[in-house]
Amino acid sequence: MTVLSVADLKDLPAIMALEVEAFPQGWSPQAWAEEIAHHHVILAQRTVVAGVSGDVSPDNETPEIMTECGSPEDCGDRVWNGVISMGWVGETAEVRRIIVAQSMRKQGLGSVLLKYGCDWAMAQKAEEVFLEVSDENATAIRLYENWGFELIATRKDYYRPGDDALVYRWVPVPVQTHEEEPCLNR
Ligand SMILES: CC(C)(COP(=O)(O)OP(=O)(O)OC[C@H]1O[C@@H](n2cnc3c(N)ncnc32)[C@H](O)[C@@H]1OP(=O)(O)O)[C@@H](O)C(=O)NCCC(=O)NCCS
Repeated sequence: MTVLSVADLKDLPAIMALEVEAFPQGWSPQAWAEEIAHHHVILAQRTVVAGVSGDVSPDNETPEIMTECGSPEDCGDRVWNGVISMGWVGETAEVRRIIVAQSMRKQGLGSVLLKYGCDWAMAQKAEEVFLEVSDENATAIRLYENWGFELIATRKDYYRPGDDALVYRWVPVPVQTHEEEPCLNR
């Protein structure tokens, strides 16, 4: 079962453990604290941590979000295995960070988090979701492309010489209403 919880500052050590494992030179505790505490002035943000006991929930199901922990057993000693941070402004949302603990990868947790992030963006009425990824990060690129993100731009030497940033965009598929269905009898 996958449990998702809106992150708060008490989750910072667990998030930093994920960050340092994935990106040794990555975001600082200060940067994550600001992310969690929504310190951006114009950007609405949401950071969600994920914990798993047993199997990861199938990625076509979005697990329930716990906005606060009901009891210590619910959250107190829970090990967080993943995190996603989303931002949203106007019609545009972005995946700012997504990390799954190395020991939990390739079990679908990244997909669960990405689905959550895109669902959240749609709930904000975002019309598109952007993200940026290193062209060397084959696993993340596959995850994004499997989910339907499309490559729209390349920023040459963005991270360092020879390491380009790929810019991806995902557009929610509009739900087709009855009136919009093509008339097949014509
Ligand atoms: C990118 C990242 C978040 C993916 O997380 P993940 O939990 O491994 O993602 P998923 O398990 O949903 O999908 C990854 C692969 O596992 C496969 N998979 C998913 N469920 C599976 C299962 N039950 N059994 C076997 N394989 C499975 C997927 O098909 C996918 O395979 P592919 O890479 O061959 O296409 C993770 O690799 C990570 O944290 N990387 C470091 C941080 C990073 O680079 N983040 C992105 C930039 S911010």
